Amino acid sequence: MSFNRLRRNQIIRNLVSETRLVASDLIQPYFVIEGKNKKEVIKSMPGVYRLSIDNLLKDIKETKVLGIKAILLFGIPRKKDKKGTEAYAECGIIQKTVRAIRKEIKDIIIITDVCLCGYTPHGHCRILKKNAKVLDVDVDGTLDTLAKIAVSHAQAGADFVAPSAMMLHQVKAIRKALDKNDFAKTKIFAYSAKYASNFYAPFREALNSAPRFGDRKSYQLDFGDPSEALKRIGQDIDEGADIVMVKPALAYLDIIYKAKHKFNVPIAAYNVSGEYSLVEIGVRKGIVDRRQLILEILTSIKRAGADLIITYWAKEVAGRLARNK
Ligand code: PBG
Repeated sequence: MSFNRLRRNQIIRNLVSETRLVASDLIQPYFVIEGKNKKEVIKSMPGVYRLSIDNLLKDIKETKVLGIKAILLFGIPRKKDKKGTEAYAECGIIQKTVRAIRKEIKDIIIITDVCLCGYTPHGHCRILKKNAKVLDVDVDGTLDTLAKIAVSHAQAGADFVAPSAMMLHQVKAIRKALDKNDFAKTKIFAYSAKYASNFYAPFREALNSAPRFGDRKSYQLDFGDPSEALKRIGQDIDEGADIVMVKPALAYLDIIYKAKHKFNVPIAAYNVSGEYSLVEIGVRKGIVDRRQLILEILTSIKRAGADLIITYWAKEVAGRLARNK
């Protein structure tokens, strides 16, 4: 008979497990909207909501008690325009949110997404040349705007800014602007290896940020290509990124693994909306066991080499770890 003496029961399996999730590995993303006492359903992301600031503050407090150390914020602006002005407005949704968190909650690390896709009517992550109907990018205008957004988030009190536009040299432009404006301490959490992925679709409903024409394939990475990802991570580190990210996570475990072995900065992985929603919807159809599947997914991302995992399950899993379940 063959059995493994070290796998006989859960206690012994736990004793020898090589990969253990802890709450401080996990980062909770949030979608913030204007208004009071709002909790909007996101159809394609069951269990995730758009929250107004008051409800967000309550949720962050609960999340923090469970041992989560960091949150990632996405804002839904009052209005969109071609210059993405709401993204850097002093009273923009993210700026207000960060100030409110800073005022009410101590010791939570605030990371803010720095991008334009949610703030422009065309839904691209960059500023386009006047009247562009095709993807005609205004390179300097985009870099200036991304830097302006980052500085405005730092001003409000963000610990990390997270540029996600995949604009070449965005990290350099942001680092320079932060330093020039006396925010040398503000750190950069770079979406360095961001693939043009089909797994983002539910997020685009959450943020209403799907491109109105074209797609993001000319600026996000091709899913057949590992080398470019490593090159972009290296460039971002050279330009001043403090933490680098691979995104999505589950279909890109090889990239996480390679990045972990090649670079010596913390590696984050984004377990994105599609990875979340396909599981949640599969669960509702009764085809998988939710609790075990979530742990398996997150553990595999950590096993591949991620030091940090951004996941819509962060709060739930932190709660389960706290209760030992
Ligand atoms: C914005 C951005 C996207 C995500 C995070 N920041 C979407 C995109 O590039 O279209 C996706 C996150 C998710 O799917 O959970 N640039």
